[in-house]
Amino acid sequence: MYAIVAVSLNFVISYKNKLPWNIPLDAEFFYSMIRGQNVIIGRKSFENIEIHPENNYYIFSKNKNYEILSNEFNNIKIFHDFQEINSIKNNKEIWICGGRQIYDEFLFSCSTLYLTIIKKFFMGDVFFDKNYENFFYLERNIFENEDIKILIFKNKRLFNISL
Ligand SMILES: NC(=O)c1ccc[n+]([C@@H]2O[C@H](COP(=O)([O-])OP(=O)(O)OC[C@H]3O[C@@H](n4cnc5c(N)ncnc54)[C@H](OP(=O)(O)O)[C@@H]3O)[C@@H](O)[C@H]2O)c1
Repeated sequence: MYAIVAVSLNFVISYKNKLPWNIPLDAEFFYSMIRGQNVIIGRKSFENIEIHPENNYYIFSKNKNYEILSNEFNNIKIFHDFQEINSIKNNKEIWICGGRQIYDEFLFSCSTLYLTIIKKFFMGDVFFDKNYENFFYLERNIFENEDIKILIFKNKRLFNISL
């Protein structure tokens, strides 16, 4: 299981239910990594992403009446309980795609965290939990330019590194 997130220098991931930045490279990286895979996502984040036919989407909502008005590709399922993630039985990878409530539940079970740092400070109202640094170690920096840096972290517990 993999997690992917982009954070600002002050750990913002969202402001007023949207990404506070518009960096095409960040979006391209996100969509390229999850392409063709199982996308695990909270209801609030789901309402802000592009739906791609080749992905399977599993949306978490506590609302039993929550419905997707258009599911033209028949690739969206709604889960009401976090345990339901165990019912995913296909061979595709599982990607934890946020937001904060979903990271809080699943991040520490992920083997790998793809963390993009947006090299600016932003106003925000949803933040990524800095505690990830205690549970993941930096494996490598895969990309850097003046705007962003993309880092791969591995889970210390799963890779036998003492916490
Ligand atoms: N920067 C990034 O990389 C990044 C990545 C992803 C998302 N985001 C941003 O993060 C923001 C949203 O984050 P968020 O933390 O506010 O919301 P979220 O995690 O996307 O979604 C929260 C929703 O998940 C559902 N949920 C929570 N706990 C649940 C449980 N125990 N069982 C079933 N469903 C449960 C609830 O849906 P109901 O209210 O329907 O019950 C809840 O409102 C968005 O603005 C998005 O743009 C940023």
